[in-house]
Amino acid sequence: MIILRTVEALRACLKETEGYSRSSGFVPTMGALHEGHLSLIVQSKAENRYCISSVFVNPTQFNDPSDFDKYPVTISDDIKKLEEAGCDILFLPSVKEMYPAGTSGLETYALGNLETRLEGFYRPNHFQGVCQVVYRLLKAVQPSTLYLGQKDFQQVMVIRKMIELVGLAVEVKILPTMREANGLAMSSRNLRLSVLERRQASAIYQELQMIKDQVDSVSPRKLEELARQQLLDAGFSSVDYVAIVQPHDLAPVENYTPGMPAVALVAAYMGDVRLIDNMIL
Ligand code: PAF
Repeated sequence: MIILRTVEALRACLKETEGYSRSSGFVPTMGALHEGHLSLIVQSKAENRYCISSVFVNPTQFNDPSDFDKYPVTISDDIKKLEEAGCDILFLPSVKEMYPAGTSGLETYALGNLETRLEGFYRPNHFQGVCQVVYRLLKAVQPSTLYLGQKDFQQVMVIRKMIELVGLAVEVKILPTMREANGLAMSSRNLRLSVLERRQASAIYQELQMIKDQVDSVSPRKLEELARQQLLDAGFSSVDYVAIVQPHDLAPVENYTPGMPAVALVAAYMGDVRLIDNMIL
């Protein structure tokens, strides 16, 4: 695997890479890689001539600076895992490389409701930061396909929206959430959970499953309230939201009828670790 740290070196390398623009899969990450990331690498490698990944902990998407400071960094482990999974090129830029003029006063994107609902509401400016970095990464990497995980449901919607707004020519593929044996969605943040907390955190999956099982017969608001209470009973310190919404705009589902498109999303704190997950109903 080739490791490149500057946009200039990356562009020069890709220019010489035969067939790159026609068949290249890109997996952007913030490191602390787990099976979820690696499933994206494997799929990207299987479907493209080249697989490229990035590891960059993007400061502009952390609305809480302490979350940025505590974000796990495991770069030598990440390099090993990427190599084993078959990644061809790793882009490993510095903050200065990604934001040469600094991180304030950056461009903004018209994300509409996506920025005010759910994650947008609880993490002000988070999605602007995601767009700022993914735009820069896509401009530098210029892949034919971008691979993202369904765990970050709203992030996927936001990135699609940004791509549409700026008119980038890249296909977006979404792969299912990878889970621990107890159902807990794999996440880099899980590294910050104790063994007991990891066990307790599986309650998110159980509540999503409970919603899926009962949504035909119990109203969405009642299910949201029940799940919220059961998460607190299971050891979560607070719950930002449990929401049953329409997948295209994240507006609340008022009356669920079988077969209608709907998704349940959860964000909750286990200690000071914020976890998110979702399930298509
Ligand atoms: O999902 C992530 O890890 C990040 O938000 C992303 C897409 C790599 C942008 O920093």
